Amino acid sequence: MRKLAVVHHRHAEWVPAIAEAEPRILVRGWHPKDDPGALSDPWIADAEGLFVWRVPPGLVERMPALTWIQNGGAGVDHLLADPSIPARIAITRADGQFGLWMARYVAAHLLAETQRLDECRRAQDERTWASPLLPEDLTGRQALVFGFGRIGRPIARALRELGMEVHGFVRNVREDPEFPLHAQASLREFLPLARLLVLCAPLTDGTRGFVDARLLANGHAGLTLVNVARGEQVVTGDLLAALENGRLGRAVLDVFPSEPLPPDSPLWNHPGVAVTPHHSGPSRPRAMIPDILPNLRRFAEGRPVEGAVDRGRGY
Ligand code: GLV
Repeated sequence: MRKLAVVHHRHAEWVPAIAEAEPRILVRGWHPKDDPGALSDPWIADAEGLFVWRVPPGLVERMPALTWIQNGGAGVDHLLADPSIPARIAITRADGQFGLWMARYVAAHLLAETQRLDECRRAQDERTWASPLLPEDLTGRQALVFGFGRIGRPIARALRELGMEVHGFVRNVREDPEFPLHAQASLREFLPLARLLVLCAPLTDGTRGFVDARLLANGHAGLTLVNVARGEQVVTGDLLAALENGRLGRAVLDVFPSEPLPPDSPLWNHPGVAVTPHHSGPSRPRAMIPDILPNLRRFAEGRPVEGAVDRGRGY
């Protein structure tokens, strides 16, 4: 039987889930922070498959039989940037039900703002019947969804249900039966009228630093930015400046260039910023096993996995 090593902070949850889904594979788990001695286990050296989120330094060099890495998430930027992973190794990704989760995240943060939940709570605490506290009407307001794959579309649908007019922004413009799609470069032209900008594209050379001072120069104080993609897509200094000079009203950030967000980051206590701990798309087995199962089966049967990421494209 072929071996699949699970090196993941929640390996105790993943190992039984994978073993149950495909009993024809031998599966064992380690924590990425286990000491290098534990990760030098001969069992790992024999494994042909690796399920991983953050690859501990030196791990892949110790796996000469490795042919397949299953990423424990949607974004593979960290794997593609890792020079220790030879190009011959197939890397596959899994986004489980991230689209659904992230649609909930975006809707929750947007509605908390437009329904003025904080102000309602404050009024309640003061036993005030605050009838002038009307919710903001989102009908017909524009939402821009940057990245329109399996995650962008469910977010777009949720926003449409809330009454918004949704536009998608993609690398290669294509006709879409549901939503108008535009080139990413044209996003700046939409910003002056937009109520919401959601980032949900993979981190690539084309999206790194995309939200910078130049882009935000077209923004305004009524614009909310939600980032569920990667922190590196936003230039933090430019974001803070835009909040100060009225080019952005609010930022809801689930991802950061450095995670956990360092304690001295000015984002923590900025009144215009909501910080959440990279939790908008929880990568739990229940949601993700259905994505991974076809390749687990191929792996068990000694066949090549399918759907490997395109390294040139970056996802
Ligand atoms: C999480 O950030 C993921 O890419 O799956």
